[in-house]
Amino acid sequence: MKKKITTLTEAVKAYQGSIEAFKNRFTGRKGALAGLFKSLKSVSAEEKQKVGKELNALKKLISNKLEELTKVEGASALSTRSVVDPTLPPRSGTLGSLHPLRVMERKIVEIFKKIGFVVAEGNEIEHDFYNFSALNFPKDHPARDMQDTFFLDEKKEWLLRTHTSPVQIRMMSKGQPPFRMVAPGRVYRNEAISARTHCMFHQVEAFYVDKEVTIADLKGVLLHFIQSLFGSEQTMRLRPSFFPFTEPSVEVDMSCVFCAQKGCNICKKSGWVEILGAGMIDPNVFKACEIDPTRYRGFALGMGIERISMLYYQIEDVRLFTENDVRFLRQFATFH
Ligand code: PHE
Repeated sequence: MKKKITTLTEAVKAYQGSIEAFKNRFTGRKGALAGLFKSLKSVSAEEKQKVGKELNALKKLISNKLEELTKVEGASALSTRSVVDPTLPPRSGTLGSLHPLRVMERKIVEIFKKIGFVVAEGNEIEHDFYNFSALNFPKDHPARDMQDTFFLDEKKEWLLRTHTSPVQIRMMSKGQPPFRMVAPGRVYRNEAISARTHCMFHQVEAFYVDKEVTIADLKGVLLHFIQSLFGSEQTMRLRPSFFPFTEPSVEVDMSCVFCAQKGCNICKKSGWVEILGAGMIDPNVFKACEIDPTRYRGFALGMGIERISMLYYQIEDVRLFTENDVRFLRQFATFH
């Protein structure tokens, strides 16, 4: 018995294998230790105490060894996983980038800021007064149908703005000229979504009001804008048009950037592409804002950011801007 205990003690001390094998060999009901405890019965009464003590010491040794083995195994498992090195620089995550429409909005706004225009913003939910009435759209006039409106109440007082022109009214009814403002923003029209039209899009409005503003100033600013954005070789032409809030009103065409005016599909063989609407602010608009139309004059212009971007980047479907397909968006990735 004594010999058995000594041999087992040595074996436990010298053990170097896996925990699993250790358990099988030494612990459990069928293990060597249990066997020894069983044979304790047959030990004589005077020996029992001594042998019992030795067995208990062995038991303790086994449990210590088991603990030690568990620690070693745990540590080696850790080392085969990743070792954390806190001194390494952090891995950079994937940064988002600016949306192509935002990039274009900033390009446009920047051009106007450089010539002294101040950035203004209005509200996407507007009152009829700012979106229509003050802009010289008479009540029940068919001109209101030009812009299919999302009304928000039965009385059709509140609506989602159909253009950024209400920003003119918001600014001009707050103070007196001079005004030199550029106002980017989101607008809404109740239109079916197609490759060309969307029910939600973006515009930039610019307006300039002072004592001596003429249509020559408008032309100068327009040409400066077009050449700054699309290149100094660009030319433009004005076509007579109609907006209730400008008189005279014009539609502005730019020489086709795609074919150098030779005639292509995009300009429908005309050599010109339409890029924005503009005009001299109608005296009725000044009156609605309590500005004296005999003292002040001004021009206003408004453009669609989607339209300009489509021309600039040669994008053929307006829906791409809202689908958020990263393969599309990544092509324009700008991070600041
Ligand atoms: N608000 C007009 C539109 O959305 C554009 C415009 C702005 C025209 C300013 C003239 C002057 O169609």
